[in-house]
Amino acid sequence: MLTRLLRQSEARVRYAAITGWGKCLPPAALTNHDLASFLDTSDEWIVSRTGIRERRISHVSLGDMAWVAAERALAAAGITGAQIELVVFGTCSHDDQVPNMASGVQARIGAERAAAMDVNTACTSFLHGLSTATALIRTGAVNSALVIGAELISPFMDWTDRNVAVLFGDGAAAVVLQATEREEGVLAEKLGCYGEAREILRVHGMGGAYANRGRVYGDTSWQFEGQEIFKRAVHGMSDASRCALEKLGLTSEQVDLVIPHQANLRIIESVAKHLRVPMERVFVNVHRYGNMSSATVPVALCEAIEEGRVRPGSLLLMPGFGGGLSYCAHVVRWGERVAPLGESKADLPPSDRSALQIVRDVMAVKGRAAAAAS
Ligand code: ACO
Repeated sequence: MLTRLLRQSEARVRYAAITGWGKCLPPAALTNHDLASFLDTSDEWIVSRTGIRERRISHVSLGDMAWVAAERALAAAGITGAQIELVVFGTCSHDDQVPNMASGVQARIGAERAAAMDVNTACTSFLHGLSTATALIRTGAVNSALVIGAELISPFMDWTDRNVAVLFGDGAAAVVLQATEREEGVLAEKLGCYGEAREILRVHGMGGAYANRGRVYGDTSWQFEGQEIFKRAVHGMSDASRCALEKLGLTSEQVDLVIPHQANLRIIESVAKHLRVPMERVFVNVHRYGNMSSATVPVALCEAIEEGRVRPGSLLLMPGFGGGLSYCAHVVRWGERVAPLGESKADLPPSDRSALQIVRDVMAVKGRAAAAAS
């Protein structure tokens, strides 16, 4: 009897394969030279300290970017929104807190049967969302999920602070997960948080703590200890990676491609060195987009697939780090398919504003807002 029960439960082992992927990058690019036109900085400083050459600035809402990414991921999976049973939206830069971001995507893609939740662990929100959705598929609570990593940082940036303004950008990406008995998707992860150090990264002006206290929502100042964040990022991502691999009895030598959070090229190189993985096996696109917070890993995943760096059966390692200070690493087994099943026509509306113009508009609004509040 017991043997039969055990066999039955073995037969029901479920995994959550990644079957669709899609990204949405707003078209306007803000170069280091653009930044140097209004900040005391230079292309040379930014490239040598961070590896970043440009970043995207969005002319649309967070929800619009996420919807386009979602439609593209659904098309790549060859399914419709109606077949999705869970939407998880990873972000820390919500258009709205109530209603949440996930419900907006749920409605726009027609996922009428789907539950919809937001996850906020700052830059690791997509990866924590991936864990949440994978777990809910593996327990049988749902059979399919859409997981989004999207951020609209530019309206919340303090564009007068060169310490942070050069680091971040806007963007979105999404993946579709589907239940399978094949050993695919997230096989192991390590999630963690250095809560005692949470004050080294705090965005003042982005929450209820500032409401009715003479501060206009979104008119931010960033508490940001760059060097301490750097150290914690390297340790958090390296330790989490080793821990996740150990759970599977694997070493970093067996990883085909590392797709890390893209905050700073020097952080990525340091993590690779700690893990003894050569940079040829690490995917990097931080030079194109800067730190898009929760969108960095899924956008990098999409581009690694587009560039043929993800192959059938590839073993992927995805380490991340963010405010909180959250950290994590996921070991993912890719499936057989590396080509999208279809393409979506969804796209952003065109814009005639340059990135510099959008940033100048944000600064003008904040100037007016600050003047009105004083
Ligand atoms: N242009 C020119 N000079 C600058 C700039 C700039 N944009 N920003 C800072 N400086 C100056 C500083 O004022 C300082 O000047 P000083 O020596 O006269 O005081 C000097 O450059 C050196 O500053 P450091 O902070 O020592 O520079 P560092 O080499 O540490 O690089 C950086 C700074 C890039 C922020 C680095 O510490 C870093 O990347 N930290 C991690 C930050 C990060 O990635 N955060 C995101 C992770 S969390 C998340 O994803 C939400």
